[in-house]
Order: sequence, then structure tokens, then C-alpha cells
Amino acid sequence: MGKTIIISNRLPLQINITEKDIEVTPSVGGLATGLKSFHKEGDSIWIGWTGMPEEEIPDDLKGKVLEEAKKQNCLPVDLTSEEIEGFYYGFSNRTIWPLFHYFMEYSEFEPEDWESYKRVNQKYAEAVLENLNDDDEVWVHDYQLLLLPKMIRDKKPNVTIGFFNHIPFPSSEVFRTLPWREEILEGMLGADLIGFHTYDYERHFLRSVKLILRKDSTFNEIHLGNRIVRVDSFPMGIDYQKFSDASLNQQNQPSSENSNFQKKLDYHKNSTSDAKLIISIDRLDYTKGIANRIRAYGYFLEKYPEYKEKVRLVMLAVPSRTNVPQYQLLKKEVDELVGRINGRFATVNWTPIWYFFRSMPFENLIDLYSSSDVALITPTRDGMNLVAKEYIATRTDQTGVLILSEMAGAAHELNEALIINPNNFEQIVDAIKTALEMPKEEQIRRNKMLQKRLKRYTVEKWAKDFMNSLREAKNRISKIKAEQLTADVETAIIEKFKRAKNRIFFIDYDGTLVNFADKPENAKPDPSLLELVKQLNALENTEVVLISGRDKETLGTWWQDVPVNLISEHGVWLRPSNGNWGLTENIKCDWMKNVRPVLETFVDRTPGTFIEEKNYSLVWHYRKADPELGEIRANELSTVLKDLTSNHGLSVLEGNKVLEIKTSGINKGKAANKILVERKHDFIFGIGDDWTDEYLFNELPEQAITVKVGVKETSAKYYVKDVEQVRDLLKEFSKS
Ligand code: ADP
Ligand code: G6P
Repeated sequence: MGKTIIISNRLPLQINITEKDIEVTPSVGGLATGLKSFHKEGDSIWIGWTGMPEEEIPDDLKGKVLEEAKKQNCLPVDLTSEEIEGFYYGFSNRTIWPLFHYFMEYSEFEPEDWESYKRVNQKYAEAVLENLNDDDEVWVHDYQLLLLPKMIRDKKPNVTIGFFNHIPFPSSEVFRTLPWREEILEGMLGADLIGFHTYDYERHFLRSVKLILRKDSTFNEIHLGNRIVRVDSFPMGIDYQKFSDASLNQQNQPSSENSNFQKKLDYHKNSTSDAKLIISIDRLDYTKGIANRIRAYGYFLEKYPEYKEKVRLVMLAVPSRTNVPQYQLLKKEVDELVGRINGRFATVNWTPIWYFFRSMPFENLIDLYSSSDVALITPTRDGMNLVAKEYIATRTDQTGVLILSEMAGAAHELNEALIINPNNFEQIVDAIKTALEMPKEEQIRRNKMLQKRLKRYTVEKWAKDFMNSLREAKNRISKIKAEQLTADVETAIIEKFKRAKNRIFFIDYDGTLVNFADKPENAKPDPSLLELVKQLNALENTEVVLISGRDKETLGTWWQDVPVNLISEHGVWLRPSNGNWGLTENIKCDWMKNVRPVLETFVDRTPGTFIEEKNYSLVWHYRKADPELGEIRANELSTVLKDLTSNHGLSVLEGNKVLEIKTSGINKGKAANKILVERKHDFIFGIGDDWTDEYLFNELPEQAITVKVGVKETSAKYYVKDVEQVRDLLKEFSKS
């Protein structure tokens, strides 16, 4: 196995230029802080941006930047100021970030930013391709690089690619407002495994794929031609040991070695016997609910004045994306709110809020976590929120209360915290009071459970789980019985075909020779298809049988000038190449008058569906219906029809977005057999894409070559990717 290539927009290190040198600091943000531990331990390289515009790095320091990055197994991708503006501030943080966090009114849809996003994703793809060996595994991270999996896949079709989205994936109703929604989904689907923090995000993604790309998923797998994409949720953990050890160390050191910051915190804590600290730590981002948190704290002091001079809110906000107007406005709003509350409530001995607008070294972060009685984390939306987990990990004596918004991904795992709705002021205020008054035993009881979970599912376990699942997803294809019809297999089949004296082809129509159209009548054979089948059929000692579920009128009209054998309605009718339509069996249709009204009630209740009436069957089509409703109703209809059909000797065939009701005992396999018994063949070929073709694959003799279109469970021996590959293959036959 090769190395892992991690790619994220931002490297775990941030480069800054000082007067004559460079300064390296750790990056802030869940992705970088979380993944760093995984990267440190394994055989991986990390590709990403250093946080500096390319133009601002003096030429003589460029080598040093590379060197510093290399020390941490990182490979910088340079971004120009223009790219930073269009790709980073623009499409990533003025379009995707707000949209995916349900701030639709903040989302801007600028074609220029989109172009920049595509270009920069391409730049990352090139950096990956330059460093990629065939046995490497690629792990792409987050919303800035949604197009990257496909870009890499296009160049390296067989490489193993995982993608993890660290932010929420919104409801399809929100996602579909994005003008470039198809490209984004297709970009992500370049991966073999797509991971989200929670099942909700996974569900939203699958529904968007279904609704927008009209691609189905079976459980959590999306079948795409010759690939399967697996989608799953993996809640990201933290490096638990790192936080708890740091906290223990800090407690065990002599107080003289405490940081000045810790001394300040202690000073407050010792000011009265019941002094308490509440912390609030985030990047300064409008999704974090910081302004409302301050308001709620002000309201708390008003509602419960007995806490004045006893509690203090220590607010740490890291500057983030400062070129985006909403972040600038938020900064102003927070400054004002802090000023207002401090101005209103402060006394000579006490300021209610200590506000720090900067990043802090790890040690100070630990000081804060371990000195605080309460952590107040109230995002309006947050993919995960690692701060909540870090706080719990540092509570080595198991005291402390976490107040956490239900809108954070972390709330799904941390349900022993005080879970609040960030828009409900009264609830937040009362939760603060509950937290401050919570008996120690209860704090310990809750934290014990939280710590147990966080200790078990660490970031290391998370990454391992993801990588294992990625390998499984990649191997899944080989577990599907059919073998891919590769160029070598094709050559062998063609050779066999050439040697044979009596050759026959059974070819399904929809989904095999043509792609599905919205309406069945729109999937007419195009001139090149007519010509292709004509040529194949004209070869010596070769018979072609088009075997379809379609009615005989449509098939007969479309293929009137091509003297192939036609089998319609799954085997009810046969038109020999040189003759007229005739029934293959004696079939009755008096059941239709009883079944039709049942289907009609389903059409009435399910917009977009309709009934097709064939000579010997009735078909309910739901391709145009809402995909989920269509499936639910198809299941319902199947059940309803069960009683009815068994009384009439009928069967229900589940095709591709259709339910077909017909007399039992008629299927493509039986119909094919009727032709096969008449003559001996030494080359038999059957190809089709859906469930109804399985009858054909099962009935054809063992030596037959059977081919499924698309990667699905099948009894066929081989599979091909799509209609285009079917046509190419038939072209090869017709040339020989
Ligand atoms: P997001 O990914 O949206 O930034 P998370 O809570 O998941 O939010 O991750 C934030 C990460 O940044 C945490 O690991 C936290 O320790 C770190 N962090 C937050 N604020 C600061 C700060 N002021 N100084 C240093 N690190 C910080
Ligand atoms: C969140 C995102 C990360 C991002 C981080 C910091 O955690 O999921 O992808 O790196 O915020 O944001 P920034 O824009 O500074 O990289």
C-alpha cells in the first residue's frame, strides 16, 4: 500500500512574514486541528495552502516556506491574491459556506467566483497528480474542494479517493438553489467514499443526488456505470489524550510556573467563594451564534441579578475570513455588544465579559478549558464543533457543564450536555442558571458518560474508520459477481464470435441501446443506432433479436426497416426477421378491467406518473414523479396488487421506474428459449440493464455470454458501464 495524500484548502500550518523572516503558527479550525494528529502518525503528505498570498512571499523566503512545510510533511499550493479573492473569499466563503449553513440570504452567486473556484480546484488536482502513485490513497477534505474528486478521477480512473465534508450538507431544498448544483454533486461523486459528520447531512446529500442528478441509491450506495460510491457518516473525534494530558500537566505543575493568563483566571476565581467562569470559544463566524450568546448572557444578568460580580464570561474569538463583509459586520456587532453589556453591568471590581479577539497558544486554551465551570457553545449551525469535545476532554476531575446547541453536529453524540435551541433565549438563560447550580455529583455523572464516548471514538479512530470504509468501498465492486468487460475480455469474445458458425444476439432496448428518456415515446432509435443494428444483423450467420418490454406497435414502427427479430412486451409477441407479429402464447387479457382502476388511483395520488397500456400488460411509470414518493408509492402498489394478481394468475415486474403487470409465465428468458430450440447456435450473446433481463441471463445456456449494463447485482457474467459502451462493443462485432 502506498501513502495517503491529504488535501485540504488550508494546511495545518499558517505562514506569516515578519520583518525579514517567516513565522509558522498552527492553523485554527476544526479540520486542521483535528486531522493533524492523524497526519502526524501515519505515512501521509498533506497538500494545501499556507494562508499567505503568493505575491506576499518574498522570493528569498520561498525556499524557507517550502522547507518549513516539508518539516511537517506538507506541500504548499500557492494561491495568488486574485485566486484568494475569487476562490477562497468568493465561492468558498460567500457562496458555499453561507448556503450550507442555511444563511441563504448571505449567499452570493457570482459566475466569476465560480470560474475561479473551478480553476483553483484544478490547481489542487494538478498538485495531487504530480505526487500521486497508483497505490496511494487520496483523501480530500471540505467544501473548498468539492470538484476535486472528479478532477482526479478523470485523470486517474482507478485511484482510491475519499472525500470528507466538514460542514453541514443542507437540505436538498436549500442546496438546489445553487446554480452549479449538478457540477458540485458530480465533483463529489468522483470519490469512492463520501463522509459526513452526521446521518442528517448524509441523508440530505443522498436526496440531492436523487432529486438533482436523478441517480438512485441503494441504502447508502450510489451506482454509477462502472463504479459504486458509498456515502456514510463518521462523527469526527479529537485527540483526547492530548487534551487530557495537557490539562493534567498544567494542574500538576507548581503554581509559580502557571502562565500569566492562568494567574488572571485564578484571580477571578479566588475573588469570592462562589465565583464562576463561563467560556465561549470560536472562530468569529456568524454561524457560531456569538452575538445572540452575548445578548443571552446580558439577559441572564438581568433575569438573575444575584449572579452579578460572581460570574464572568471569557470570550475568545479568533479572527476569521476578515475580507468577507458579513464577518466585518459581525466583528462590529460583537464589539458593540460586549461594550454595551460591560458598560451596563460592570462594577469597580468586576467586568462581566472578558473579550479576546485573537488566536491563543494551545497552553492558554487548556488554561481556559480547565478553569471554566461552564462552556457555552451556541452555534446556529455547525458541522461538528470540536471545541465542545475539547472542553469535556480537559475536565480531568469530571466537573464542569457543557451547554451545547442542538444545531451542532456534536450534539448528536453529546446528549448528556445541556442541549439548547440557540434561538430560544429563555432556554439559554435558564440553562446557564442550571449549569451554574448543577450539583457536582450530577456534573460528574454526565461527564463520565461524555468522556467515555470521546475517549473511545477519537480522531484517530475516526480516521481509521474512514480509511477502512474507503478500502471496503473500493473492494465492493469486486464482490459483485459480474466481471468488468475490459478490453482483453472484449478481444477474447470477438475472437470467439469470429470462429462461430451460428451466432445470435439477444439485445434489450431501453437502458441498453438507448438511454432513458422522460417519456417512453422520446427514446426513439437514432439513425446511427439503426445503422449499427442493421450492420450487425447483416453479418453472415448472425441473428439479432431485440427483446424488449415495449409494445409491438412501437417496436414494429421504429424497426420496420431493419429486418431483425423483435420480441415485444417481455416475450408476448414475436416478429421474426422475415415475417409478421405472432403471439408466443395464448394469453387472456380480461383481468385488465379490474387492475386498471387500481392503477388509476395511484396516478391520481402521485403527480408525474402515468399508465401505459400494452396489448397484454399494464405499466405504471413513475420516472417523472418525486423520486422518494415514487418509490414509496411503487412499494404500496406492489402490495395492493399482490392479492389481485395472484387471483388472476398475473405477475408484477419491477423494472426501471416502472411496475408492469402481466400474465404470469411470460418473460424474456422463456421467449428467447423459443428461438433457441429451433436452431443450434455456437455463439449466444445476451445483454440488458434491468431486472427483467435477469430472466434472459438465467435461461440462456451456460456457454452464453451475458452482459449487464451498469454495476448491479446480476446473474450476468460481465458488466459494461453504460449505453455508449454497449454501442462501442456492438460496433466491434459489426466490423468483424
Ligand atoms: P470550526 O471548525 O468551525 O472552526 P471547531 O470548534 O470544530 O470549529 O474547531 C475549532 C478549532 O480551533 C478547535 O480545535 C479549537 O481548539 C481551535 N480554536 C478555537 N478558538 C481558538 C483560539 N482563540 N485560539 C486557538 N485555537 C482556537
Ligand atoms: C472550518 C472549515 C475548515 C476551515 C476552518 C477555518 O473548520 O470546515 O475547512 O479551514 O473552518 O476557516 P478558514 O477559512 O480560516 O480556513
